Amino acid sequence: MDMPAPEPLRRNSTAGSDALFARALKVMPGGSTRAASFFDPHPPYAAGGAGARITDVDGNVYLDFSNNFFSQIHGHAHPEIVAAIIGQVKSGTSFPLPTETEVLLAEEICGRSPALEAIRFANSGTEGVMAAIKAARAFTGRPAIAKIEGAYHGSYDHVEISLDGAPANWGTAGAPARIAYARGTPDAVVADTVVVPFDDAEACRRILEANADRLAAVLLDVQPSRVGMIPASQAFVDTLRTVTRELGILLIVDEVVTYRLSYGGAHPLWDLQPDLVALGKVIGGGMPIGAVAGRRDVMSVFDSRGRKPDVAQGGTFTANPLTMIAGLTALRLLDRAAIARINALGDRLRAGIAAQAAACGVPVQVTGLGSFFRIHLTDAPITGYRSAFPSDETKRRVATLHRTLLDQGFLVTPNVSGTLSTPMTDADIDAFIQAIGQILPTL
Ligand SMILES: Cc1ncc(COP(=O)(O)O)c(C=O)c1O
Repeated sequence: MDMPAPEPLRRNSTAGSDALFARALKVMPGGSTRAASFFDPHPPYAAGGAGARITDVDGNVYLDFSNNFFSQIHGHAHPEIVAAIIGQVKSGTSFPLPTETEVLLAEEICGRSPALEAIRFANSGTEGVMAAIKAARAFTGRPAIAKIEGAYHGSYDHVEISLDGAPANWGTAGAPARIAYARGTPDAVVADTVVVPFDDAEACRRILEANADRLAAVLLDVQPSRVGMIPASQAFVDTLRTVTRELGILLIVDEVVTYRLSYGGAHPLWDLQPDLVALGKVIGGGMPIGAVAGRRDVMSVFDSRGRKPDVAQGGTFTANPLTMIAGLTALRLLDRAAIARINALGDRLRAGIAAQAAACGVPVQVTGLGSFFRIHLTDAPITGYRSAFPSDETKRRVATLHRTLLDQGFLVTPNVSGTLSTPMTDADIDAFIQAIGQILPTL
């Protein structure tokens, strides 16, 4: 039964976080080691977390909708995951040998979707995406990939293209420009990353056909958060699948974020048969993880039995038993009922915010399927990266909403998106909806 939510605490002090940031500035560029989670003037420093709440070093408590960027699906310090990790710590944290836990987690994930015939683990979603791309190159003998304009897939060079285009440089909608994010990105990387617009099936077909002989894979996130956290249409996904098959291009579905959408991941919701899937976040139970999974014949590029593999994949801490046992415990807790419950909480949150916005006459849209949400401060239709691109004035209002929520004890990502975790209650969601309703007219 749902318990009433404790009153969210208003932030009383930031003195402890301010002092830590001042020290951090002396030893880290910009005082941070993580670009995505930084916001001005600086984030609060976490002291600990329990369930759906985080306490910072000043004693402020936040209801956590960021969930470490969509990964902590069971919130913080879930007792069963903690017990599993402690049990493993006592008998070793990593070995130069495989363990049974790695086999168990592989069986668990492959058992949830027939499309995932085999899997290899990595330490981050970035590494999972990188391994998928290398596998596709090795399997097809082609060098290039295609990705969706604006979509984020981690910090591997070839996917850091067209992340942050703006009207001045993004080119035409039907043929988006290839824009390197990092200064100094080699021209060869840009040349081998083709960019396609989100949800425009005909433009996509045209661009893929024009580049077919060089393309190893298309990288698709079916609900890319930076593209507005809108779901891809069935027609777009179907066209991509058909065209990639026709042209001998592999389809890699990046489910690092969206795996939580259903028991088998995101692809079953679109009835999609991917060649490869990149995974991360929730499958690690709060520990660092990534993975590539999919067709057995494609995955065999990693097989090193009696030969040099086509792609050497793995690292010192790959499939370490701490991550494996945390992930296994988290996924066993994430049964169909748990997913249905947080997806229903998501429906409650989206409908509640829409009702508050309507009541106060502020234009707002809440996108996201299942346990995801992103709040857009506009009523203009959002169909892709360009329509989700905020004006300077909207950016300012989004930053104010983010900061005001933080001051009132609610942690969301800087673009005001989030996910729900299994410890959350109806009362938690209602408290958030109410806070949004109070803040919206003040923006
Ligand atoms: C869709 C997507 N793919 C890949 C990644 C990279 O995952 P990681 O941060 O674990 O490297 C992210 C990270 O947010 C992501 O959102």
